[in-house]
Amino acid sequence: MALEVRASSMAQMMERTRAETMRLFHIVVDESVLRRPPSPGFRPILWHRGHIGAYEAYWLLQQSKGDAPTSPEFQRIFDPINTPADDARNLPPLDEIDAYLAEVRRDSLAWLAQPGGLADAATFDLVLEHELQHQETLLYLLHLLDPAQKRRPEETVERDRPDLAATDGRVLVPEGEFEMGNCGPEFSYDNERPAHCVSVPEFRIDRTPVTNSRFMGFVDGGGYSNRELWDPKGWAWRESEAVEHPHAWLPGRKWRVRGLFGEREMDGSEPVWGVSWYEADAFARWAGRRLPSETEWEFAARGSSGRKYPWGSAEPRPELGNFDSPLGGPTPVGGYPAGVSPHGLLDVAGNVWEWTGTEFGPYPGFRVDPYPEYSELWFDGDHRVARGGSWATRPPVLRSTFRNFFRRAFRIGFIGFRLAG
Ligand code: AVJ
Ligand code: FE
Repeated sequence: MALEVRASSMAQMMERTRAETMRLFHIVVDESVLRRPPSPGFRPILWHRGHIGAYEAYWLLQQSKGDAPTSPEFQRIFDPINTPADDARNLPPLDEIDAYLAEVRRDSLAWLAQPGGLADAATFDLVLEHELQHQETLLYLLHLLDPAQKRRPEETVERDRPDLAATDGRVLVPEGEFEMGNCGPEFSYDNERPAHCVSVPEFRIDRTPVTNSRFMGFVDGGGYSNRELWDPKGWAWRESEAVEHPHAWLPGRKWRVRGLFGEREMDGSEPVWGVSWYEADAFARWAGRRLPSETEWEFAARGSSGRKYPWGSAEPRPELGNFDSPLGGPTPVGGYPAGVSPHGLLDVAGNVWEWTGTEFGPYPGFRVDPYPEYSELWFDGDHRVARGGSWATRPPVLRSTFRNFFRRAFRIGFIGFRLAG
């Protein structure tokens, strides 16, 4: 019985997630816009629609259930690893993609209702979290489009905006031990495992992420033109891309910031976002500080008892942070005191992802599960770990052991940072 209850709630989550995914695609007014890369070097937005279906077919119908592929051609076009982005230009007609998605979904729900499917909860979670993560990818791609190409979905409930004054300052986290990583029994990715005991020397860390107004000091103070502040690779990147401000900032007589449906005046109390790891690293050096290591971040977030979320084990709800609001945006830092972590950190789960100083790599004893292209392929020296979640992050992906990872030069995500040291 318990299993059947879980299966029906999984089916519900899958269906709700799909409806939400489609709503995001419907923000784009014109299909031709979906078929073009939103910016050079990216795949067309529509590619993600087929990819979500192909991933579901591969994992639930072929790997878990044992079916033969029904649409090898789709599986090829929508494979991110073996099919280069340039080959993903000529996408099938929309109705064919949608028919494929519907067929796959029908079969995976049927599989979920069978004993074998029911027993393989991990693969269903894998597929669900995959789609939820792609929603966030879709959102940052949608941010790149001209507002004239988008419409706001109807009946959207806006969340209240907290207006608490920013809680500045840093806390001293005393030396301690904790079990870093995830030991289940709920779903986790291979890169979160195995849980392992670590001892953390005393360190200082900010209660809140760096705000736009703090970052302005770096911009106005010539931070983007002072080579000494930059990692050598970062400087080369900054020069070749002519980067002079966060990607989310729009220059003008006064700074404005990017939003999903248009730009607005910059709010200095909101966290800065749209910065690459190199920019975060240079800012930290300018401020005479540093990025927290991933271990420090997780310890400050979860405490020595290893909470699932900063506030404890209660499931996420709106008073606890700025998350689960795909059509929202950043909110002033320190706005959710009920979500405070054991060491006094705010905005840990939600608002913006936070770069850490740590290279993405395996925990001691790491084993690939279930495929090397999720994590292991990206243990490449370039990726850095980001933690915590953004306004767009969905509750299943918000657990404090979740490790996000991006190339150092990646700067279109909803990623900011907080300082340590
Ligand atoms: C973990 C967010 C970096 O988007 O490339 C999606 C997640 N993996 N499809 C990404 C992912 C396969 C991944 N990130
Ligand atoms: Fe994917």
